[in-house]
Amino acid sequence: MIKLAVFGKPVVQSLSPRIHNLFAKQFGLDIDYQAIEATAETFPDQVTELSANGGRGCNITAPLKRNAWQLADRSSDSAERAQAANTLVFHSSGERHAYNTDGQGLVNDLNSRTDFQLSGARICLVGAGGAAAGVLGTMLQSGPDCIVIINRTAERAAGLEKAYSDLGPIRSCRPEEIGSEPAFDLIVNATSLGHRGLAPELSCSWLKPGGLCYDMNYGQAAEPLRRLCEKAGIPYSDGLGMLVGQAAVSFQLWTERSPDSGVVLKQLRHSFC
Ligand code: ATR
Repeated sequence: MIKLAVFGKPVVQSLSPRIHNLFAKQFGLDIDYQAIEATAETFPDQVTELSANGGRGCNITAPLKRNAWQLADRSSDSAERAQAANTLVFHSSGERHAYNTDGQGLVNDLNSRTDFQLSGARICLVGAGGAAAGVLGTMLQSGPDCIVIINRTAERAAGLEKAYSDLGPIRSCRPEEIGSEPAFDLIVNATSLGHRGLAPELSCSWLKPGGLCYDMNYGQAAEPLRRLCEKAGIPYSDGLGMLVGQAAVSFQLWTERSPDSGVVLKQLRHSFC
């Protein structure tokens, strides 16, 4: 039995237990994957307990991704850059290693499900919080022409530009100036607005013909931007594939098996309809 968990608050709504159980089925693996509510205060002891009870690792969701990174003995480049981790792997030495698989989840979803090419693309990233930081490194490694970050609080966008500029062409832009930028191939919504029933104010003129709007949200939180895009005739994708994609990378880190994300994505979509 492989013991795993996801920590967060709230966490009851998490699809991770379901996704990882579907992955485990693909290999006939027996897993026990729990969703555990935690706060910044309780999280370190809960991680220690899981590890002491033979746990192999855990996922971490909001608002504990930074805490998870702080708790680790070693971090992957992407977790170190973002100063946030969504995956911990417990080693037999007692060491905990931190990873951030969100960027890989997004890139794998785009590559496998759409014919969108990140290489050479002009990308507008809307939002400059933890979600944006989590995907920037991997997106820059995919060789885009340029990533332009816009955010309500311009200083945060400028901070990300500074933190990631050695990895590739990245620039911040004030929201009021985005209209005078050349059009983009891809707009990525990394804001938390969807959780309050809102969408960022995008215009179809920001996108080249054939461009795509990718929302890192899924489920209810994706509905406002989905509706806005449908109304404006903008091709839209929610972030359910990214969720499954980041989980697949975590699963591989824990089990050394690479699950079929496409099948699980179909199973999830099927059960949502
Ligand atoms: P997460 O970890 O989900 O990224 P976060 O770090 O709080 O959460 O970041 C939320 C993002 O959504 C930020 O880019 C935030 O903009 P600010 O940096 O200006 O706060 C953005 N966001 C949240 N509410 C917003 C709103 N009403 N209008 C525009 N952007 C908003």
